[in-house]
This record gives sequence, C-alpha cells and structure tokens, in this order.
Amino acid sequence: MKNKKRLGVNIDHVATVRNARGEKYPSPLRAALLAKKCGADSVTIHLREDRRHIKDGDLKEIKSKLKIPLNLEIAATKEMLNISLKFKPDFVCIVPERRQEITTEGGLNLKHNSKFLSKVIKLLRKNRIRTSLFIEPKKKDILASKKLKVDCVELHTGKFCNKVNQGKNYKNDLNNLKKAADYAKNLNLEVHAGHGLNFKSTKILSKISNINEFNIGHFIIGESIFEGFPLIIKKFKKILK
Ligand code: PXP
Repeated sequence: MKNKKRLGVNIDHVATVRNARGEKYPSPLRAALLAKKCGADSVTIHLREDRRHIKDGDLKEIKSKLKIPLNLEIAATKEMLNISLKFKPDFVCIVPERRQEITTEGGLNLKHNSKFLSKVIKLLRKNRIRTSLFIEPKKKDILASKKLKVDCVELHTGKFCNKVNQGKNYKNDLNNLKKAADYAKNLNLEVHAGHGLNFKSTKILSKISNINEFNIGHFIIGESIFEGFPLIIKKFKKILK
C-alpha cells in the first residue's frame, strides 16, 4: 500500500504578486493560514538574500500565527543563520542561491564551504529545528549530506519535471530519483522532493514510497488564479493520499 505523503505549500509567489504593486495585498499570511485550513501539512517560505518576494516581516508574522510547521528556506550565510536562530522556524531547508537566477536552479554544492555548512546544520539542530539540504538526486550528495549530519534531504526534481512537461522520456530521471530516495532512506535520512512539480509529475513521484514530503509552490499559485487556492491544495492532497 502507498504510504501517505506530506504536502508543503510554498507561498513565495503570493509575495511576488504583492510586491509587484508595493502594497499589502495579497497577504502571504492569509495564504499560509488558508493553506493550513485546506489541509497543507506545512508552509514553506524562502527568505532570499535580495528579499525579492518574502520579507522579514512576513517571516515574523507567519511564524507567530501559523499553527502548522513553518519551513524556512535559506542560503547558508551568517545572516540567514542568525535569522533562523532568532525566529526558530520548525524546519529549515538550506538551498543554493545565486542573485541573478530566476529560481533555485539546482541542488547544493556540498564541497563548497562544507565546514560552514556543517556549523550551520549543527546550530540549527541544536535549536531543535528539523534541517534539510536541497540536493541533486545523486549518491555522492546523499552521502555527503549524511556526513554533514542533517535530518533530511530534499531531492531537486527540476530535471525530471522539465522532461515530463516537454513530453520527453523521463525514465532515467525518475529512476535517479527513486534510487536516490532509497539510498537516502537506507542511511536513515528523511526524503523530500521539490521544484517544478505539477499534478502530473507529483502523481508519478507519489509512487516512490521513500519520499515522505513534497514541497510545491509556483504551480499551486499559478493554477490558483484559475481554480482557486483551496481547490488546488485539495487536489494535491488527494494525489498524495
Ligand atoms: N523546494 C525547494 C527547496 C525550493 O527551493 C523550491 C523553489 O523555491 C521549491 C521546493 C518549490 O518549487 P516550485 O516553486 O517550482 O514548486
């Protein structure tokens, strides 16, 4: 039997729409609370260094009012570590960040600055924050994550999703994700997946038993324009049941 998977709803792009006008509307806090009401298991926000969508005030407000786990995505920097330790979100996911990129284009380079990464993970975990690393679905990155003593890995699903969307053969990418999930689980790491997911790609990946959590943002917000936020969240919950 398929085990139940958790859905994390990323609301960054509610803030993107708000910021396009420099107004207070639409409110990421309202989206976070509504996501909970519609069955989301957690809410994700990415506080980027350039604050292009989520702002510090959103983090403060959502952390104080949300009654399900808040997953904060951060780059591994001193500033973001200090903010995480101050606000103590339930979960932190460390992601790579390049200023010019449109979105998080790939997994972390774990060789780069691994000493600092190890210190960040240690401090977050010491503060009882579930910590994950956003990585490519590769054996060497999973092993490196294990050595860094993190709780979870989030597998970057971007390449797989692109192939699904373009109608290309995705067999190899699916196989890589499955093998990576099994390998990580064997090492006692909890496995998450995210990036570029829509109904179709989520449905395919939901069959991988070792993936416990899906973090989905852009498609949910985009599709909500046409069908409404509650309905889209409920559809994803049904897929992940
Ligand atoms: N997971 C992580 C770690 C991410 O960085 C992102 C993108 O911010 C997502 C999931 C969500 O990706 P998308 O917005 O494409 O659904």
